Amino acid sequence: MTVNLVIGTQWGDEGKGKVVDFFSGDAEYVVRFQGGNNAGHTIKVENEIYKLHIIPSGVIQGKIGVIGNGCVLDPLVLLKEITELKKRNINPQLLISDRVNIIMPYHKILDGADEKILGDKKIGTTNRGIGPCYSDKIARKGIRVIDLINEESLKSKLEMIIPIKQKIFKVYGINKILDLNKICETYLDFGKKLKKFIRPTHIYLSNSIKDGKNILLEGAQGSLLDVDFGTYPYTTSSHVIAAGSSIGTGIGMKNINEIIGIMKAYTTRVGEGPMPTELFDEEGVYLQKKGNEFGTTTSRPRRCGWLDLVIVKHSCIISSITKLAVTKLDVLNRLKKVKICTDYILDGKKINFLPADINEVNKCKPVYKEFEGWSEINKNCKNFSDLPKNAKKYLRFIEEKLDTPINIVSIGPGRKETIIN
Ligand code: IMP
Repeated sequence: MTVNLVIGTQWGDEGKGKVVDFFSGDAEYVVRFQGGNNAGHTIKVENEIYKLHIIPSGVIQGKIGVIGNGCVLDPLVLLKEITELKKRNINPQLLISDRVNIIMPYHKILDGADEKILGDKKIGTTNRGIGPCYSDKIARKGIRVIDLINEESLKSKLEMIIPIKQKIFKVYGINKILDLNKICETYLDFGKKLKKFIRPTHIYLSNSIKDGKNILLEGAQGSLLDVDFGTYPYTTSSHVIAAGSSIGTGIGMKNINEIIGIMKAYTTRVGEGPMPTELFDEEGVYLQKKGNEFGTTTSRPRRCGWLDLVIVKHSCIISSITKLAVTKLDVLNRLKKVKICTDYILDGKKINFLPADINEVNKCKPVYKEFEGWSEINKNCKNFSDLPKNAKKYLRFIEEKLDTPINIVSIGPGRKETIIN
């Protein structure tokens, strides 16, 4: 029995979809444990490209995908994703935790409204209602998927919640009337369509562990977007770090074997918030174009910069990462010089940690170590030893600095363009 956990070590978009797809080979279940359709995972199989937002990537390999209790679920998006996959001859096997919170229409309206009011202080959310849905969950005003198959329960909850939301709308100056009966009808209809997937998934997962089967836990976003340990308040609303997988699935922490941290060979970020190694020159534009750094979910261009090891080290510490997978190494091909940020300068002093105060993070200036670049990486390269000498130097430096082994190096989007160390 092995429970592997895959998480992002930067600000998301590290290429987790490909690594999850790779690791899901011998897993019975592939489980999402936090976030919702703010995530975007791209998987390339042969010539087919799949973009998934809420369905766990492992379903492409015929695995059972589980949407864990720590996620937030927009039923409309899920049903569309199922239809799209079916059109491409994939009938996804799915289980949805009966405790999952549902993204309701008022969550999406309030997400956008908040951002408008914040103006240039906005978080730059994906506008999918994620934050407002998690806020209601914690405030104990959430609608859970189990409510969608119980008319009485859904109606009585909406009767309590909708007048509150309507008052909030007024404060925000939003001229929208929430039609309780219509919302109830629509969401009961979603419930009918989703009923066959709804289960106490924590019990299924626990039984699977007892039976000696393998499970893969699929993180979304990245550790620097974690609501506690990320660059708060410029974060998402969920627990992205390793411990979040236990809360978000009901799998006890002692059952998790490997914690695999995914890191892109450089750094990207979507939305607002500090990013000490961000490049504003032609090198940043080069990385953006060559790495096709445009959001899977929102199509927004990603901010790009050199690899920041201060943040990856932070992620290794808070999640006890046991192995690393480096993605998109090929994007750095042909650069004369490549740089790695090892420390920051804050108020004239060298520091090697991420400050909690966002104003301090904003002031951090990167300290770089420069490396000679390399030309092409042969796409058929299968061993670490076959990589160009300077690429190996780059990777060895990362391993040493993070005191964590690199087990996987991705040198292209395809399944086969992967080196196992
Ligand atoms: P939210 O998750 O939509 O509330 O957005 C909060 C912040 O997290 C914004 O800066 C988003 O751009 C960022 N974010 C959310 N999901 C992802 C993701 O999957 N990849 C990268 N950034 C994300």
